[in-house]
Amino acid sequence: MTERTELAGRHIVLGLSGGVACYKAAELTRRLVKAGATVQVVMTAAAEQFITPVTMQALSDRAVFTSQWDARAPNNMAHINLSRAADAIVVAPASADFIAKLARGAADDLLSLMCLARPIERCPLLLAPAMNREMWAHPATQRNAAQVRADGALLLGPASGDQACGEVGDGRMLEAEELLDELIAFFQPKLLVGQRVLITAGPTFEPVDPVRGITNLSSGKMGFAIARAAAEAGAAVTLVAGPVHLPTPRGVRRIDVTTAQQMHDAVLPLASRHGVFIATAAVADWRPVSAAERKVKKQAGEPPPALAVVENPDILAAVARLADAPYCVGFAAESHDLIQNARDKRVRKGVPLIVANLGPATFGRDDNALTLVDANGERELPRADKLSLARALVADLAERLAASPA
Ligand code: C5P
Repeated sequence: MTERTELAGRHIVLGLSGGVACYKAAELTRRLVKAGATVQVVMTAAAEQFITPVTMQALSDRAVFTSQWDARAPNNMAHINLSRAADAIVVAPASADFIAKLARGAADDLLSLMCLARPIERCPLLLAPAMNREMWAHPATQRNAAQVRADGALLLGPASGDQACGEVGDGRMLEAEELLDELIAFFQPKLLVGQRVLITAGPTFEPVDPVRGITNLSSGKMGFAIARAAAEAGAAVTLVAGPVHLPTPRGVRRIDVTTAQQMHDAVLPLASRHGVFIATAAVADWRPVSAAERKVKKQAGEPPPALAVVENPDILAAVARLADAPYCVGFAAESHDLIQNARDKRVRKGVPLIVANLGPATFGRDDNALTLVDANGERELPRADKLSLARALVADLAERLAASPA
């Protein structure tokens, strides 16, 4: 994996209120620092019952603030200084009690005081609720959560699952990795707000018999990165994925398929309801005429069995032909004559944009290099990690959408 420094230059004030999930705040701090952020930890007295400031100071490399009476700052106004320096305040865990305090504007400890004193228009407040499921479901907590949202806070989670108390339900704090992804997404420019984006990704698998099939080396990483980048940019994203071993990017709706025909059948009814279609999938060109019901066995002295194949439907071309077709982007993975092949493909498929990449230099890798080929010429996106390229592609796409009539 390439080193993630996506929060370089960001100063995060990480607030901890009381809850077992405080242990996750330690890991979150470590990940934020690894991602390039500076982290200033502020803890309530209740949080100190669950984890010590010693741990949080060591991980953040900064002395922790726990009291509004802390006399370290020359002006003696920690709540003002801390909130003015922050690019965002993240409270993780945000307990039921702390959300209740925020909802009524209480300010009797440093963390709530600082949240109240923050300049709302330039210091966002993100809350990661963590509590027992009954506490989360209680009308008072729901009322308070709605109130803090209305007052401008963003709630991250909670998730559903096993709880420290042994019960199962809504109220678990998101994991550190998920919170990091949410925060990185939060800082991305919202270039595709209001857009619905449909993406295909990965290979397809065309069964020959119950244990064999025709497939290819596509890992799905480029398509999944584009799905993530589009979601970060504010789009509603549907990802139709072939057989891959990749986690679903946060906030993305995923539909798993195996064969090209299944991918076609999943995509076509959805296409017209989307403004953009990005076909990154490496769809198998052919499939066996029929899959054998039993494993095809070697027969001594017999010639190998003939494999009769038929062509798969071209999903991209089919979507591009729709009367109310979305803006269509195709991918070309070639081994030679990349640009000429991409130009031909663009015309053949009837799409405005083809993204060209070298198959052997991208399949399975974490980095790639792209050439965007449209009717006017080419634009290079030089070699970088796939997520950076996906974000650059999303930015390019947003400009094209803005320029093309709706
Ligand atoms: O025809 P070729 O496979 O070279 O074209 C690649 C582009 O077309 C990619 O965007 C791929 O996702 C799409 N495609 C498709 N359905 C197929 C074959 C390719 O959508 N059956």
